[in-house]
Amino acid sequence: MSDNIINNIKIVVEKKLEGEGSGHDWWHIFRVWNLAKHLADLENADQQVVELAALLHDIADWKFHDGDESAGPREARRCLDQAGADPVITDHVCEIVATISYKGAGVATPMKTLEGQVVQDADRLDAIGAVGIARTFAYGGHKDRLMYHPDEKPHMHQSFEEYKKNSGHTINHFYEKLLLLKDRMNTSEAKKMAEERHRFMQQYLDQFFLEWDGKA
Ligand code: NI
Repeated sequence: MSDNIINNIKIVVEKKLEGEGSGHDWWHIFRVWNLAKHLADLENADQQVVELAALLHDIADWKFHDGDESAGPREARRCLDQAGADPVITDHVCEIVATISYKGAGVATPMKTLEGQVVQDADRLDAIGAVGIARTFAYGGHKDRLMYHPDEKPHMHQSFEEYKKNSGHTINHFYEKLLLLKDRMNTSEAKKMAEERHRFMQQYLDQFFLEWDGKA
């Protein structure tokens, strides 16, 4: 029964996000789903809630709905109702979808349940490291942003409203979000994995600036 619902939701999400071009495509969901299953195993979290939340976490992201934060949980609920999911599970999954997003350097985003912490970690792991770098530039290109501008310094957003309006160049995004994620992981396995991915991003940035200045 529960496997059927997961498979059903997987098909809906894959169909909806397959041609997405901003780094929030089906393969992002697929990687987050896999990472979340791995973390849920280690943490003894509820697999069904974790898998459904991982699959549905970007089903209607605020970034693509004019900043509307309620679009994600609303669409997730519609999919789960249609698939015949248990209402208690549906409520739990929708709460995770509603609270998972990064909202700026100065804004805390605590997750209430272990399952939420696991899915948030998985999503944040996919935002950093080699894959995270690729996704960040894909997103910047999608939004017509400059790769880099030496005169525009990073901005540590103190509210979600401020963060949503941000339109700076892509290298700033490393300082405004990606390099901060390592210290915001919830589970011990994610913290370990994040260390490695963080190191890789720092190396990447060192090389980027050397090449920018023609020194490498
Ligand atoms: Ni995501």
